[in-house]
Amino acid sequence: MNSAATTTSEWWRNGVVYQVYVRSFADGNGDGTGDVTGLRSKLDYLRDLGVNALWINPWYSSPLRDGGYDVADYRTIDERFGTTEEVELFIAEAHERDIKVIADLVPNHTSSDHRWFQEALAAGPGSPERARYVFKDGKGANGELPPTDWTAVFGGSAWEQVEDGQWYLHLFDPSQPDLNWENEEVRAEFDDVFRFWLDRGIDGFRIDVAHGLVKDTTFPDVGKVGKILESETTENHPFWDRDGVHEINRRWRSVLDEYDDRMMVAEAWVAAHRLPLYLRPDEYHQSFNFDLLATDWNAAEFAAVIDKSVTAADEIGASSTWVLSNHDVMRHATRYGLDAGIPWRQWPMTGPVEALDVERGARRARAAALVTLSLPGSTYIYQGEELGLPEVWDLPEDVLEDPTWFRSDFTEKGRDGCRVPIPWERSGDSFGFGSGGAWLPQPETFGDLSAEAQLDDPASCLALYRSAIAIRSEHLAEEGGFALDSSFGDEVLAYRRGEVLVVVNMGASPVALPAEAKVLLASSPISGSDLEQDTAVWLVP
Ligand code: GLC
Repeated sequence: MNSAATTTSEWWRNGVVYQVYVRSFADGNGDGTGDVTGLRSKLDYLRDLGVNALWINPWYSSPLRDGGYDVADYRTIDERFGTTEEVELFIAEAHERDIKVIADLVPNHTSSDHRWFQEALAAGPGSPERARYVFKDGKGANGELPPTDWTAVFGGSAWEQVEDGQWYLHLFDPSQPDLNWENEEVRAEFDDVFRFWLDRGIDGFRIDVAHGLVKDTTFPDVGKVGKILESETTENHPFWDRDGVHEINRRWRSVLDEYDDRMMVAEAWVAAHRLPLYLRPDEYHQSFNFDLLATDWNAAEFAAVIDKSVTAADEIGASSTWVLSNHDVMRHATRYGLDAGIPWRQWPMTGPVEALDVERGARRARAAALVTLSLPGSTYIYQGEELGLPEVWDLPEDVLEDPTWFRSDFTEKGRDGCRVPIPWERSGDSFGFGSGGAWLPQPETFGDLSAEAQLDDPASCLALYRSAIAIRSEHLAEEGGFALDSSFGDEVLAYRRGEVLVVVNMGASPVALPAEAKVLLASSPISGSDLEQDTAVWLVP
């Protein structure tokens, strides 16, 4: 640490970042839940895959009512996941393999089990303990109505009443009370949490709900409130994307800048024209771009989104980020197997199962990997995507844990289907996830999709990702050099990245490839000079 002369290699600008949902990655102690021991045992696998960094979903002490996004203590690791000492070992072992570690920080809310919230409940109205959260009196003659009409992302009112009659705000689950970011004590506490983990070697932070921290303190009603995943923000929304968040961003950035080579990436679901504000030189280094994730399999739409994103990043000197899946959305191998227009966020309860074409989804997912891994900027991979894992959309209702399921009155299944534990081996209890079963049941199809089944198969999805990442670092590491190529027609996405020509056939008929070009990599076998439907290829002259 040296505040006078920090250095930065800007490793995040074009890195491949692998997202680990630790609970579902690998179980080292046989209790059915993934943990840091399991994660450490897979570091060689991750090195061989070629990733530059890992983003670890929250691993802090938590009742896991929202998979760990309900933090009870920001300075301890949940005992189901491991210990702080073990995390330090893990960071050192990752660094030995040239892999950076990005932790997930959840500043918008704590768990209701957090000491602060318990103190707030005990201390009563008007106390400094309550001032760390957003407590208010209700409306109505006796305060029996919530203070505003705000609705929670997981459904229902965003207000919960406590015994003495006051209400507290929770933009997510009632077990996730929102912190009051107007309060200096809250701000100072997070500066300290940042330093706590930076001192332990963490290379960066993914900031949860970065656009939600600041609320309109006049507490107006909003009428219909957009849901976070729909990015329906407006410029004067009472709790999304308010201008006040930028002051907080700058405060954190100055803490990070006390250290060498650290970064922060925002999870900010905001309107495209507002995103650059988060990326000013004294704010975030990066922000997730979810536009491609929300785009149907269509060449013109892909081209438009990619071009817009690259241009927007260039204009402000930022690097783009590419995301196709994460722990909040339906896995893209399944999304691409559905007809365009079917809600992509989660499988509809009474969904048209017959509309799912598994083979088509898998084929498109392979082609999509050659898109995101060849674009300028950094590419985020969600664990299991390199195995081509599909969404487990038919989990039995009695195993569902996502608060969305309960808060939607059992009408939205939620996000458990993309969080099913990873299959490491072809067979056996939990397909090698651990010796004590898996906290969510895995489908039989996971055996053939396991890492073991794919490792020695040159035609596997895993082999494709490994080759793509290796070739990327050799041929596509330079920033910039991006230009769309429209010469293949409307149904083909094509662009140049330096000397590499990327061609993706998103239409129904085969497309002729340039005669002299040499194939560096193809998402499905190529015979002759035609590129088949739903296939991507990297060519060099
Ligand atoms: C983010 C997380 C999501 C979580 C929510 C509340 O959107 O990605 O998993 O439920 O924030 O913390």
